[in-house]
Amino acid sequence: MISTNSQKQLDFVKEKLRLNISHDSIIDLAIILGSGLEFTLPMKSSQILAYSDIPGLPQIGVKGHKGHMVLGEIEGSAKKSLKVLIFAGRFHLYEGYNPEQVQSLIQLIIGLQAKNLLITNAAGGIAENLQVGDLMIINEIKDYQNDGELNSSRGLLNCLTKPTLKVDTNLTSFLKSLNSSDEINLKQGIYAAVLGPNFETDAEIQLFRNQGCSAVGMSTYLEMKLALEKNLNVAALSIITNSWCQKGQPSHQEVLENSKLAQKKLDAVISKILDDIT
Ligand code: HPA
Repeated sequence: MISTNSQKQLDFVKEKLRLNISHDSIIDLAIILGSGLEFTLPMKSSQILAYSDIPGLPQIGVKGHKGHMVLGEIEGSAKKSLKVLIFAGRFHLYEGYNPEQVQSLIQLIIGLQAKNLLITNAAGGIAENLQVGDLMIINEIKDYQNDGELNSSRGLLNCLTKPTLKVDTNLTSFLKSLNSSDEINLKQGIYAAVLGPNFETDAEIQLFRNQGCSAVGMSTYLEMKLALEKNLNVAALSIITNSWCQKGQPSHQEVLENSKLAQKKLDAVISKILDDIT
C-alpha cells in the first residue's frame, strides 16, 4: 500500500503538472538521471517542478544533482506525441535517507503509471572490458547496502551470500537487441551497489570482482527493487566514469566531468527507446 506521504506527493505532482490520471497511461517514459547527466533531446511544452516544492519529498544534498523533474513532449516515430518525465537528481542512503525516502521517486513513477522507466547512474568500472565513457546495461545488481539496514551485525555476511537482483524486463531485452554502432555500443554486467559516500578501497574492489561484479556505484538497488516488485518495465544503464583497472580511487569531480563523455551515447539510446514506444 502507498503511504499517506507518498499519496500526498503524488496528488501534488499531478496537480502541478496538470496530469489527468483518468487517461490509460500518463507517462510514456520516465528517466532518472545519474550524477552529471542531462536530458538534451528537444522537448515541447516542458514544465519544471522543483523537488523542494513537493511537500515531504527529501532534498538533494549532492553536487552534480539538480533536484527537479521536467515533464515534456517528444514526437515518437509514429508521429504520436510521447510524454517524457525526467528526474534530475535522486536520493541516496549515504545522505542519511531511509530506504522509503530513497524509493520516493519510484513511488511517484508508479503512481503516475509510467509505461517505461530508464534508470541511469554513474559507476566505476571494475571489469577489464569497461572504458570510461561506456554505457553498461545492468543485468543484475548485487546488494552491498543490506537493503538499507545499515546497523545489522550480520550485514556483511548477508550481502555476500544473498542472490543478485535480476533485471529481466522487456526494456532490458530491447536495449540488448540494439545493434552496435559508433554511437551505441552497450556493454552488460553486474552492478555492485555500495553505500558510499567514500570511494572503495582496492580490497573492496577485489572482493566485488571476485563476486562477479563489473561496475560499482552508490545508488539504483533500492529503486530497481521496488520498480521490479511493481512490475514496471524498467531498465538501468551505468555510465562508466572511472576505471578501477586503470587507476585507483576517482574524485567526485572526475566522476561528474567524465559522465559527460557518455551524454551523446545516452541520447542515442533514449531516442531508440522513444522510437520503439507506440
Ligand atoms: N565507486 C562508487 N561509486 C561511483 C564510482 C566508483 O568508482 N564512480 C562513480 N560512482
